[in-house]
Amino acid sequence: MSATDRNQTDQTNQPDDGDQPLARRDLLLCVTGGIACYKSADLASKLTKSGASVTVAMTENACRFVAPLTFQAVTRNRVFTDLWPDVQDHDSGHISLTERADLMIVAPATANMLGKIAWGIADDLVSTMAMSSSGACEMLVAPAMNSRMWSSPALQTNIKTLAGRGVHFIGPNEGRLACGTTGPGRMAEPDEILTAIISLLDQTSPKSAGT
Ligand SMILES: Cc1cc2nc3c(=O)[nH]c(=O)nc-3n(C[C@H](O)[C@H](O)[C@H](O)COP(=O)(O)O)c2cc1C
Repeated sequence: MSATDRNQTDQTNQPDDGDQPLARRDLLLCVTGGIACYKSADLASKLTKSGASVTVAMTENACRFVAPLTFQAVTRNRVFTDLWPDVQDHDSGHISLTERADLMIVAPATANMLGKIAWGIADDLVSTMAMSSSGACEMLVAPAMNSRMWSSPALQTNIKTLAGRGVHFIGPNEGRLACGTTGPGRMAEPDEILTAIISLLDQTSPKSAGT
């Protein structure tokens, strides 16, 4: 194959921004400990295929459902699971990751994590990053839980608090839940979350464009 042919092939294989609506976007995907964690691996894959650089942070309980290695494999990026950096790390991930992210996504968002974020508790990596996202990046949350947990007064108060602060929500959807009941609480499907992210970011330039 000549150099010209190779060049043409490369150009043909280069996706344009239509194929990659999230090109040059830096996304911080936070995964918390619900059964819907397995869907987040698909979401991470879809975001990556859409051109985004996806950094995943997981709570300790999320790691009981899906191995960090799954996310590392689909995003080809390091996965963060600990607030406390390794000795050789010179960077505080809980600050720098939200600083560079165009959007922080929490999917699935457990009742526990929504409560912590609403009440300003910062006792693990994800809740601490949620606090440090203030003034740095917007947050999109995809709650997922049992219907009775979703309807509980405590949770609903927390949702109102977060929505009042400008947190974006997608779902939950109604349907059959992992616990065997039917009702509200299913995490929005990865495709729906992808569409919501694209439309949220549509009005803003990538942060990386300013560097
Ligand atoms: C099998 C199983 C499934 C669970 N699924 C959910 C869920 O879908 N949503 C939720 O809010 N909590 C769920 N929980 C409870 C959370 O894992 C628990 O509240 C935990 O403290 C959440 O931790 P995290 O928010 O730090 O990830 C589940 C627990 C178990 C054992």
